Amino acid sequence: MEVIVAGNYDEMSRVSAHLIAKEIKKKHNLVLGLATGDTPIGTYKELVRIHKNEGLDFSKVTTFNLDEYLGLAPLNKTSYNYFMWENLFRHVNIHPGHTYVPQGNTEDPEEFCTWYEDQIKKAGGLDLQLLGIGRDGHIGFNEPGSSLASRTRVKALIKITIDDNAKFFDKPEDVPRFAITMGVGTIMEAKKLLLIANGKKKADVCAKFIEGPVTSQITATALQLHSHATVVLDEEAASVLSRREYYNWVRDNKHMVQKKIGR
Ligand code: PGA
Repeated sequence: MEVIVAGNYDEMSRVSAHLIAKEIKKKHNLVLGLATGDTPIGTYKELVRIHKNEGLDFSKVTTFNLDEYLGLAPLNKTSYNYFMWENLFRHVNIHPGHTYVPQGNTEDPEEFCTWYEDQIKKAGGLDLQLLGIGRDGHIGFNEPGSSLASRTRVKALIKITIDDNAKFFDKPEDVPRFAITMGVGTIMEAKKLLLIANGKKKADVCAKFIEGPVTSQITATALQLHSHATVVLDEEAASVLSRREYYNWVRDNKHMVQKKIGR
């Protein structure tokens, strides 16, 4: 796992956006997995800027979002579908038919989840999956205890997630209790993973998932088993990592490291 410690939220966002842009430039029809929440907003802003100022071309890119609240229609303002249109899709030249977000108001969630997995396969699999992390260590909505082999399915949310997401809703009681989420197994099949996290409240969980033992109680620890996972943190999220000095040395000697290990 490559750990990059950026100075602050803006730098974290720039680094992650540039990593994504680099993949799109390398492969114009990139299959890109996307995340929602507060963390990736800056990354999307920077991607929009690169599109507008430097012509980054999304016309052949296909995207699959990690998750969606069960019960919310795509046009509901608190849905993740709406979030994606507000923060990225409507600002770039992506084909609307190439943007997949789980359908929260599907009548048959089980059938929908199978269909979603099939669409990922038909697209050729995820090339790069962007991830955030919950304070409980979830990736997607794979709450503690989720199988590390799980596939796209309905998951019940735990209290800490519901509390953290209440800020996006008028009333705490409005936060849905269930979501459709890609499974850990689905995420792990992406060729590359990119996890971003910022702020003090993520510091403990970042130390646990990067430096602690692999466990289904912190589903982000599965990244330790992936052959191409990159983590970009701001200073606060990295503040309790025990091997900070090593990660910073690697970052500061990037050119030499790249030459040696070829990444
Ligand atoms: P956040 O959520 O970006 O709003 O902190 C991250 C997550 O729950 O994955």
